[in-house]
This record gives sequence, structure tokens and C-alpha cells, in this order.
Amino acid sequence: MTDNAIEIQGLKKTYAGTGKAPAKEALKGIDLTIPRGSIFGLLGPNGAGKSTLINILAGLVVKSAGTVKIWGFDQDKNPRQSRAAIGVMPQEPNLDPFFTPAGSLDVQAGLYGVPKAQRRTAEILDLIGLTDKADAYARSLSGGMRRRLLLGKALVHSPQILVLDEPTAGVDIELRNMLWQNVRKLNEQGMTIILTTHYLEEAEEMCDDIAIINHGEVIIRDSTQNLLGRLDSKTLVITPAHPAELPALPEEIKGDKAADGTLSFTYQSEKTPADQILSLVRDAGIMIKDVRTQEADLEDVFLSLTRAQ
Ligand SMILES: Nc1ncnc2c1ncn2[C@@H]1O[C@H](COP(=O)(O)OP(=O)(O)OP(=O)(O)O)[C@@H](O)[C@H]1O
Ligand SMILES: [Mg+2]
Repeated sequence: MTDNAIEIQGLKKTYAGTGKAPAKEALKGIDLTIPRGSIFGLLGPNGAGKSTLINILAGLVVKSAGTVKIWGFDQDKNPRQSRAAIGVMPQEPNLDPFFTPAGSLDVQAGLYGVPKAQRRTAEILDLIGLTDKADAYARSLSGGMRRRLLLGKALVHSPQILVLDEPTAGVDIELRNMLWQNVRKLNEQGMTIILTTHYLEEAEEMCDDIAIINHGEVIIRDSTQNLLGRLDSKTLVITPAHPAELPALPEEIKGDKAADGTLSFTYQSEKTPADQILSLVRDAGIMIKDVRTQEADLEDVFLSLTRAQ
């Protein structure tokens, strides 16, 4: 038995060319394991291959090479068990406009062979906040409501793993908070969560572990904490009491003067004590009205890794 929810080895996908479009190698040999019980973030720029990977997990895209194990079941050898272990909320809405939310959930449960007595339609409608829309046609739902219904559809067969492909794209703040609250609750109940998002502060807040994909390859996979520790860069922002110029600085401190007159100093906290910067500023005769610090965030890590490629 394994402790991993997902085990991927040598996964490749080449989309066949059509007409004038050439073939596209979207995944170039991905190795990735995702531990059970975690909230795992799959990040990367547009076109990196995230949805391709997720759609292979969901059985919506056929891989070109490699092995995929879901909850210990090989996708090729045990297709039924591996499919039952995972629920996927796709990036692209795939709702039938003539079904109502209650109807969609019921049909989806039927597809997964969930017996009528075990269906949780009302509970799921409540979870996704669509109880009052249970009998409205899908085409009359707003964009955010449709996305919530997609989440509901991913949950009908009570999978051990829930995959969310950009669940919060185009969703308002209140709904986003509700969605993340639900995701956390499901995770606390034991569900493994895999998600993609372009909102890196969401990933930073939600994910235990993160893999960054670029051009069809995993360029890094680590705990969120380790990733944030990789960039030991800090910025001290000083508002001078009177208009002031940047003082002369040693090479390891980068200075900048903003249009509003604030002075910022970017440095590595391992090498430079903040006090040294404050002294440099005071020695230059600058009176400090206000001071604040900025730490590197996931966005800085992401940009430094994906830009280098
Ligand atoms: N059905 C398809 N046929 C041909 N090429 C495709 C197909 N789907 C995706 N691609 C190509 O494969 C690459 C990876 O696409 P994918 O949708 O997996 O990226 P992504 O990381 O999900 O991007 P985004 O952040 O924009 O959602 C892109 O170059 C894309 O153009
Ligand atoms: Mg995508």
C-alpha cells in the first residue's frame, strides 16, 4: 500500500497536429507524487500543461506515454477503481444547458453508479450554495453559479481525491472565500485536494506542497514553506520625513526611489542586518518618518523560476 494519492511516472502527452497547426508536446515526461491528505498546488504559466495533466487524471485526455496511479490503482490496469477515487472540476464548463442543478448532480451520480439511496444531491446543493436554484435550468445560472455546480458534480461519488482546475477564475471575492472554506472543510474530513490557480496568494495560503510546471516539465516541487524560504530577499521601505535622495549603498543592497519619495532597499537578510540599512539612512541625514518591510512571496519565487527558463 502506498501513502500517495497520485503517482505519476514518465507522463508524456503530444497533441496531434490538425490542419496547419503542428503537433504539440504538452507534457515532456512528468514524474510527480502527491501525498494523501494534502492540499497540493499545481502552478505554472498559461500553456504550461496543467490542464493537460489534470485532464489525463480525469480520464478526459488520453496520455501518450507513462503511468498514472490514482489512490494506488493503475489507470490502465484498474480503470474503474482509479476513476472512482477522483473527482475533477474542469477548467472549461461542460454543463448541459437543459439540466437543472439537481438534475445534473443526479445524472452525474448515475454515471458513477451511485445507488439512489446513497445520493447526496440535497447535501451537495447546500454545500455549493445552490439549493434555491435546484430546479433552474443550467443556462439561466450565472458564471459563478455554473462553476459551483461543476464543483458539486465532482463530489457526487464521494471521491478520495478532489481536483480543481482554476476553481476561482472569474469568481467574486465572497464566493472565493466560500469555495476555499469548503475546500478546507473537505480536506479536514480527509479528502486530498489538488488545485491550480493563477492567484498565487491563494496557493500560498492554501497549499501544503506545490509543483511548478513550465513548458511541460516540473521545474520544482517542494513544500510551500521551503519554496518561500528559497528567496531570502527582503525589502525595507522608508518614508523620509523630508524629501531625500538615496544614500550611497554597498553592492549587496539595491536601492530605489519611488515617485512618491519613498526609499526602498532590497537585501538578503542572511548577509545584511536591517540595522545597517537604517544606519546608512540616518548617517545620510535622512529623518525616518515611517518604515515597513516586505518579504518575498510566492509570486517572487514563481517569477524567478519561470523567467529563468
Ligand atoms: N486539445 C488540444 N489540442 C492541441 N493542443 C492543445 C490541446 N489542449 C492543449 N493544447 C496545448 O497544450 C499546451 C498545454 O495546454 P494546457 O491547457 O495543458 O495548459 P495550462 O497549463 O492548463 O494553461 P492555462 O493556465 O492557460 O490553463 C498548450 O500549448 C496548448 O496550446
Ligand atoms: Mg489550464
